Amino acid sequence: MGTHARFLFCWLCLQVIFATVLSDVWKAEVVSELKTLVSSCVVLPCKLQYPGKQLPDSRIRGIWHQQAKHDQRIYHEDSTEIADSFKGRTRLLGHLGEKNCTLEIDEVKNHDNGPFCFRAEIPSIDKYSFVESCVALSMMSAPEKPKLEQMKTLEDGVPATFKCSIRHTCPSHPPTITWSRSNSEATLSNRDILHGNWEVESLLIFIPTEKFDFTDLNCTVSFHGGLQSSVSSLIHVKRKANFLHIIISVVAVLGTSLLFGGVCYIICKKYRRQTQDLQSRNASVIWSRMSRMSQRFRKSPRSGEDEPDHKVPWLSVTIKFCLFTHHSLCCPCPF
Ligand SMILES: *[C@@H]1O[C@H](CO)[C@@H](O)[C@H](O)[C@H]1NC(C)=O
Repeated sequence: MGTHARFLFCWLCLQVIFATVLSDVWKAEVVSELKTLVSSCVVLPCKLQYPGKQLPDSRIRGIWHQQAKHDQRIYHEDSTEIADSFKGRTRLLGHLGEKNCTLEIDEVKNHDNGPFCFRAEIPSIDKYSFVESCVALSMMSAPEKPKLEQMKTLEDGVPATFKCSIRHTCPSHPPTITWSRSNSEATLSNRDILHGNWEVESLLIFIPTEKFDFTDLNCTVSFHGGLQSSVSSLIHVKRKANFLHIIISVVAVLGTSLLFGGVCYIICKKYRRQTQDLQSRNASVIWSRMSRMSQRFRKSPRSGEDEPDHKVPWLSVTIKFCLFTHHSLCCPCPF
């Protein structure tokens, strides 16, 4: 092998090694597909790797273009280089110096399907189009219905939690969530659920009262761009302490019976003594006297002849009451 040939061979070897190292170093990580809501925004996550040490943003030029046509640029730092249909709608959110090539497409149109690919140009090193890792967008012309979760049973006076959530791909302008109960506090959070998908959720906590039984609770999601979707749920509030009502009724009935029984018992006891007394003397005389007294009492308001026998009507009424309780309640009354 001549010197010339040896030199050529070495040069080729170096080229192969260099190319292998470079292709390993130049890398863009993107998600291959994203579901996107028309009229809203979509953020395409992108992570970049380039050879050499970290460079300032200004030393790297980031470009996004259509996979099919490299000259159809959807993002370029020089806006005149951007295809008309994407002018003013794209923004590089990531810092290229931090190896972040994340792109936002706003006011998404029905035909923004892509696939879109990233291209990095570092004047001092090289240029690279990452056409093997591109992002395709699948369009949704209408938003999905939000998901509403709530506790199985709502009880009067017991704080209840409601959760309304929706998936989206526009983290730079996340959707807002409103509830039909405007005077209640709700907390909103936006969570990365990976691969370019996000979930925004609102937690509502309020104390339901009977007043809300059979009313609707609405959760409305408003997307960036103006589209809305909502979900509603019929609230059923269980009355508190059905148990307490039962206890109160039982206590009332028991109390009344005890009071009545007590009165009966006292009266019976008192008159048992008196009757034993009377019987021991002359029962028949007393009985006839009693009936006379009670007859007289019935006559007395008109005749007015029984002024001295004031105690008698009371006695007669009591005897009648005791006889009545004796018959109706089996009171141990001796009559
Ligand atoms: C890239 O930039 C976006 C937008 O600023 C940010 O949300 C994301 O977390 C960044 N990614 C990384 C890996 O730092």
